[in-house]
Amino acid sequence: MRVVLMGPPGAGKGTQAARLAQTWSVPHVSTGDLLRETVEKGTPLGRQIEETLAAGQLVSDALMAEIVAERLGRPDCRPGFVLDGYPRTERQARDLDRLLAGSGAALEKVILLEVPAEIILKRLSGRRTCPACQAVYHVDRLPAGAAACERCGSALMTRSDDREETVRRRLGVYSEQTQPVVEHYRRAGKLVRVDGRGSPDEVYDRVLALSQAAPR
Ligand code: AP5
Repeated sequence: MRVVLMGPPGAGKGTQAARLAQTWSVPHVSTGDLLRETVEKGTPLGRQIEETLAAGQLVSDALMAEIVAERLGRPDCRPGFVLDGYPRTERQARDLDRLLAGSGAALEKVILLEVPAEIILKRLSGRRTCPACQAVYHVDRLPAGAAACERCGSALMTRSDDREETVRRRLGVYSEQTQPVVEHYRRAGKLVRVDGRGSPDEVYDRVLALSQAAPR
């Protein structure tokens, strides 16, 4: 499967992408995680990216094209991938079309998770992430007082861009710059809209059923 997961910040892309990647035995490629890994290295590029993320703005299309081409070019992506967080601008959508056309492996589906803003704010204010293995949790579903990753034992953290003010900015950036990408894929006949409300299990079942269905 070669699938893109789209949706506003906090829609559940990372949560669903990890499960789908496991089901389909392909890598979960999250551009947010790739950028945070670069930040962790503390290089001048990492520090520049850190500022952009903290401001809730997008990293440049040119840098993203380089990062995505390098990652999708690795052998583990040959059988397919679940791409989470890319493309986010019309330019990135065209760059991805070109990249995949060059490798003769077009996208099969673009899954759009639709979730209203009030639910998003609740989800992001309670998100906890593992900086080591990138697992994603919500405080409502963690045992009381749990502070360590259930998978690898590292200390869980709150993302610096999950402050309410930054989340609102990210939602604004999404509607201005990423909504047009939805239209790009609707025109290409690849878009599948999925109701992202409900529990992670409910959403997963919906995504799986609709990812086999015809695009709308
Ligand atoms: P990125 O990490 O991609 O952030 P995002 O798109 O804003 O999405 P999030 O990771 O915040 O949310 P998600 O939809 O994955 O939700 P999750 O599953 O975690 O990007 C971060 C930044 O990097 C961007 O702002 C930008 O600066 C930069 N960037 C990345 N890609 C870029 C690009 N292509 N171009 C330029 N810049 C780029 O779930 C959220 C919470 O809700 C969790 O706590 C989870 O447990 C919970 N949850 C999930 N599903 C459910 C459910 N069904 N019910 C209840 N709770 C749920």
